[in-house]
Amino acid sequence: MKIALLGKGKTGGELLRLIRNSPGLSVTVFDRENPPERTRLSGHDVIISFLPGDAFLEAIPELKVSGIPVVTGSTGFDWPGGRETFSTQLKDSNLIWVHADNFSLGMNLIHEMIKVLGLAGTLYDDFSFSLHEVHHTGKKDAPSGTALAWKEWLNMPVDITSERTGDVVGEHTLTFNTSFEQITLSHSARDRQIFASGALWTARHVLDSGSDMGPGLHDLRRIALYKLREAGSQKR
Ligand SMILES: NC(=O)c1ccc[n+]([C@@H]2O[C@H](COP(=O)([O-])OP(=O)(O)OC[C@H]3O[C@@H](n4cnc5c(N)ncnc54)[C@H](OP(=O)(O)O)[C@@H]3O)[C@@H](O)[C@H]2O)c1
Repeated sequence: MKIALLGKGKTGGELLRLIRNSPGLSVTVFDRENPPERTRLSGHDVIISFLPGDAFLEAIPELKVSGIPVVTGSTGFDWPGGRETFSTQLKDSNLIWVHADNFSLGMNLIHEMIKVLGLAGTLYDDFSFSLHEVHHTGKKDAPSGTALAWKEWLNMPVDITSERTGDVVGEHTLTFNTSFEQITLSHSARDRQIFASGALWTARHVLDSGSDMGPGLHDLRRIALYKLREAGSQKR
């Protein structure tokens, strides 16, 4: 698998190490000095982006014309024209792109738990949620893409607070409060390798199952959810 890696910062650098230690993989790094232009992207099997959101947004037109599948973890930007419109454009051009706010595979397990907490209103009259996220000082966007995704999954009002300190990889804590009970759901990313290996897992999935997935803008969450439900129905 020939990988075009966009960005070799904290997360991209981790992926670069992983690729170089994995037999059968080769990589070209694209950054400010070697920007991702269509001619130089040509010949790669997949593009993986860990560029900051603004730089990724700028690169989108070149990535689209390259015709190569894209796996992106970039956060802190809006899809041009909105997510649905962008996905339709990808479908029209027969392109497969996958986005994940968080490539940690454990995040997919937590997704199901948050959805259950979001049903609290059926059992309680008086309750509240709060969400606190902590990241390293270099992170540009706040709240994090993951915090915004958790809020969307919860589908309930929630106060989000953000903290930027040291080299924290990523911590998210959702607290459910009633007068007499508290439930805390916490996810802590211990090492950036989880994002690197999740992105590589996704790239392999796209190349193996792209024809089943079909063109468009896919969310890693949906791919993982499908796998979890499939496993669940086999267990029953
Ligand atoms: N989805 C996930 O699982 C996940 C996990 C972690 C991070 N992220 C996201 O991934 C992105 C990168 O995070 P990070 O912590 O790795 O950031 P980082 O350490 O700041 O690295 C960013 C990289 O992008 C390069 N870059 C910046 N602007 C550029 C431009 N205009 N053109 C070309 N290259 C450019 C930087 O090059 P220079 O060093 O030359 O500036 C650097 O190599 C963020 O959006 C972050 O939120 C996602």
